[in-house]
Formats: sequence, structure tokens, C-alpha cells
Amino acid sequence: MEVDKKYAAVIGDPISHSLSPEIHNYWIKKYNINAEYRAIRVKKEELSDFIKNISKENLEGINVTVPHKERAFEIVRNISDLNKEIISLSAINTVFLKEGRIFADNTDIYGFLENMNISQMNFISGKNVMIIGAGGAAKAIISALISKDVKKIFIANRTKEKIDALKEIFSVEIEGIYLQEIEDYANNNVMIVNASSMGLLGKNDINLNFEKISKEIICYDIVYNPLYTKFLRDARNNGNKIITGLGMLIYQAAPAFKKFFGIFPEIENIEEEFSFLFNRFN
Ligand code: ATR
Repeated sequence: MEVDKKYAAVIGDPISHSLSPEIHNYWIKKYNINAEYRAIRVKKEELSDFIKNISKENLEGINVTVPHKERAFEIVRNISDLNKEIISLSAINTVFLKEGRIFADNTDIYGFLENMNISQMNFISGKNVMIIGAGGAAKAIISALISKDVKKIFIANRTKEKIDALKEIFSVEIEGIYLQEIEDYANNNVMIVNASSMGLLGKNDINLNFEKISKEIICYDIVYNPLYTKFLRDARNNGNKIITGLGMLIYQAAPAFKKFFGIFPEIENIEEEFSFLFNRFN
């Protein structure tokens, strides 16, 4: 441990396949900062002590990933003041120190929106969007869509009770549908977002009949491994515009980097700059 060096880390369990170290260490090098970003495996029973001791561990802050985002929220909530938006989400992905005190943020919301803006698709206002999935990621996306004045959100999820829970949290109009009904409701929306873990390597794919889905609908998948999921490949073959998930991962890291190391990294051409990641997942 070097005295003048700054440290930050991503914690999760498992953690070895996290891309966050590559993203943050790329910026550390680019901005010539004396710092290091690591991946640390933290088990559920260690989480509370780990978060409370980040200053003792000499860390500027941490990113929190699966499966700790909701538990980390509960821990930080008891020792810090969180803003209303984060409390409604009840999930965090960034914990950082400010003047010795612990704070937290959820930068997934920013990451989701920025990834849409690079595709010049700021088109949500007054329109409907469909989300597949009703877990933690769906919550951040609903929050992001509300900030863009979405009119109504259709949520397709295997478990209906999870949709009811979202209706309790958010004031926006939400209509729950079954996964088998996606095609029937798709054309009422400007965009379909997969926020579930379906399509992830090793998990079952989303199989939609695109003959029933308008080409005008933008298809967005937050899964990035594989980068082109079956859902996105089918959408692209049908002529729909698609947005992949790797951009969201990179953009959500930027505000966290600022909290840890004081610089907001500029991203000019994401696919060029991060070609070392984009090429890996093609
Ligand atoms: P995250 O925090 O990443 O959103 P999560 O809260 O575990 O993770 O949510 C995962 C989402 O993927 C859930 O909506 C889940 O559906 P259920 O609410 O029915 O559990 C969905 N999901 C995961 N595996 C699925 C599968 N095999 N079929 C259908 N939906 C699935």
C-alpha cells in the first residue's frame, strides 16, 4: 500500500469477471492519477463490516455489484443521509467518502440514460416504454424513464408480485403483463428494454416473434455478455434500432470515478476508446 496512492474497488460475490477494474484503470492511466482500482470478493456476511470500514481500508470508495446492491442500501441507509430518489430505489451501486463520511449513489440511472443519448434517442417524453424484468435493474430504469417524462410503462415479468411491488414505489402508470403477452402489447411503445437476466450467457434467451413487432420500436438490452443477445439479433434482423448494454456499464462508471478520484472522465467515442471491451464481446 503506497501512502500517496488512492484506492477504490468493486465488491461482489462472485467478482472475478467484473469489467469495472478495466474501465476505471483505463481512466486512471489516461488521466495519469496515482491510483489503483481493484476487484474484491466480499461475502454477504462480511458486507456490513466492509462498508463501514472503507476509510480504514484506505479506500476512497467502492462500487457494489451483484448480489449486494440492495443489502448495501440497507447498511448505508442506517449510517448516512440518502436522497429521496435513492431511497425509493432501495438499491445503490456506489459508496464513497466525503469529508470522512459515507455517502451512496445509484449511477445506473445515469448510465442507462447516457447510453441512450449517444444514440441520439432522447425521445421518451409523453411516450410509453416496455420493460422486461422487475428486479433491481428495472427499478433504476423506471427511475430514469420517469426523469425523461415517460407516459406509461408496461412491465413484462415472470413473477407478477414483483410488478405490484414496483407499482407501490413509483407514481408513474404501470401495467403488468405476462412474458407471453410481449408481442401483443409491444406496438404501444417506443422502446422495449430488457432489464431481466434473460439472454445472459448460460441463461435462457428472450424469444419474440418479431413479425408482430413494428420496426419503429427501439430495442435496448442491458445485458452485455453476450453483447448481441438473441433479443437484439432478432430485433436487428427485423430492422429495428438496437442499443447494447456495454455502454450503460461504462457510463455508470464515470460518475463513480469522479466521486473516487475527482475527475469526471470524458467519453468522446465510446466504441473507439473502449474497443478492448467491445471487441471482446462481439
Ligand atoms: P437485477 O438486480 O440485476 O435486476 P434481479 O433483481 O435478480 O437482478 O432481477 C432479475 C430479473 O430477471 C427478474 O425480473 C427475474 O424475474 P422474476 O421476478 O420472476 O424472478 C428475471 N428473470 C431471471 N431469470 C429468468 C428466467 N429464467 N425467466 C424469466 N425471467 C427471469
